[in-house]
Amino acid sequence: MTSVVPPTRAPIRRGIPGIGGTLAYVKDPLVFMNDQYARFGPVSEMGFIGKRWTILLGPDACGEALRNADKAFASKAGWGALVGPFFDGGLMLLDFEEHHRHRRLMQAAFTRDRLAGYTAALGPAVAAGLDRWQPGPDFAAYPALKDLTLDLATQVFMGGAELSEPGELDRVNQAFIDCVQAATALVRLPIPFTRWGRGLAGRRLLEKFLRRHLAQKRATPGEDLFSVLCHLSEDGDQFTDDDVVNHMIFLLMAAHDTSTITTSTAMQYLGQHPEWQDRLRAEAAHLGDQPTLDELDGLDGFDLVIKECLRLLPPVPVLARKTVKETEILGTRIPAGRLTALMVHLQHHQPELWKDPETFDPGRFSAERREDKVHRHAWEPFGGGVHKCLGMFFAGAEVKLILHQLLRRYSWTVAPDYVAPLNYYSLPYPQDGQPVDLQPLRTHA
Ligand code: HEM
Repeated sequence: MTSVVPPTRAPIRRGIPGIGGTLAYVKDPLVFMNDQYARFGPVSEMGFIGKRWTILLGPDACGEALRNADKAFASKAGWGALVGPFFDGGLMLLDFEEHHRHRRLMQAAFTRDRLAGYTAALGPAVAAGLDRWQPGPDFAAYPALKDLTLDLATQVFMGGAELSEPGELDRVNQAFIDCVQAATALVRLPIPFTRWGRGLAGRRLLEKFLRRHLAQKRATPGEDLFSVLCHLSEDGDQFTDDDVVNHMIFLLMAAHDTSTITTSTAMQYLGQHPEWQDRLRAEAAHLGDQPTLDELDGLDGFDLVIKECLRLLPPVPVLARKTVKETEILGTRIPAGRLTALMVHLQHHQPELWKDPETFDPGRFSAERREDKVHRHAWEPFGGGVHKCLGMFFAGAEVKLILHQLLRRYSWTVAPDYVAPLNYYSLPYPQDGQPVDLQPLRTHA
């Protein structure tokens, strides 16, 4: 946005060349962001994973970039610098007109009716997954939830039951994991057996797999997301085969780790706050094991808990952009061609926006309190502007359904002083697997 007053230059955080603030960020992003904000304000510059980045902090700076009024911030080149070529062609990595066209078409895959269908398919898949869990006093919740959500994605997104070749689902899941892990590799060269090399091989396998099933998905409409994408049509516009493949690979990634970390954060806090665990169990006691989307919508207490978990630990703590022309944020100049990090995590924890921000207090989102209303951009776990998460309602239904089925089968506790040792090299995850004391509920039929 241009202002009448000439823009100022952003202050620079000096550090080790090529590394800059990277190590401080991965050690503890919140400590780093608070420090950066206190020393340099909402718009600053520093070295981050080998390049010069502009750092935006606080709801005003991040909000202005998300609104992107002068179309200066592009997504593809920004995210591409972080996640490499593995998710090319995905909706989040398209810009401007092309993005607009694809988003318009894809929206039809996320209508309420469609969501009701996906939710119905999720119910039995969640039940089958949870019934395989082996509860115990040291149950590693995070890897179990990660396996579960990946199974859900391949079943509900791809119509997994149709994948006939023995072991194929496992190979597809592994290829997908290789792509995600390669996105954070330090050595970014196409050498076999490195993380990057495995990622490229994984991408090829996923493409081959999806292409092999495309003709059949095009021929017979189905309810899974893969089939739906094949049949979307608006004013004669349709996705090409390449589009469908690219969107599927990105959607698998977008839906997987984000939902996993949200659910595992909820398991942690519900384990530390038995009063909320009891409240949610009581709220959903009248429902069967596999509620409909309408029934899930009625679970207000679940909404409060999920929102609070997304505030405390946003699964996507930083959004990436690159400027396609010179612009300014809050009166500070950002040159053309500059990588820009929107560190939305900080505004979820700023004491000027939230009362006791480090306390788990789902009631802050209740109709009487609505602390999130204090600023339009105070709570941004799904981003904002034209790239705002298209799967947020899908995610809400999936996380609620998993929590509901968990609460019907188990009760669990987590030590009150437990702090998850989070790894922030890519999306955050608890390095200890997040142990919980998980016990079967006698009442579950
Ligand atoms: C709790 C779970 C989730 C969180 C926290 C989350 C977060 C986000 C965020 C922050 C963005 C915006 C990125 C940016 O502006 O650069 C985004 C975009 C997106 N998400 Fe999600 N997401 C979640 C689940 C899902 C699910 C389940 C799906 C699909 C079923 C999905 C599909 C997408 C898509 C397609 C975009 C790109 C939108 C666009 O560029 O127009 N997400 N998500």
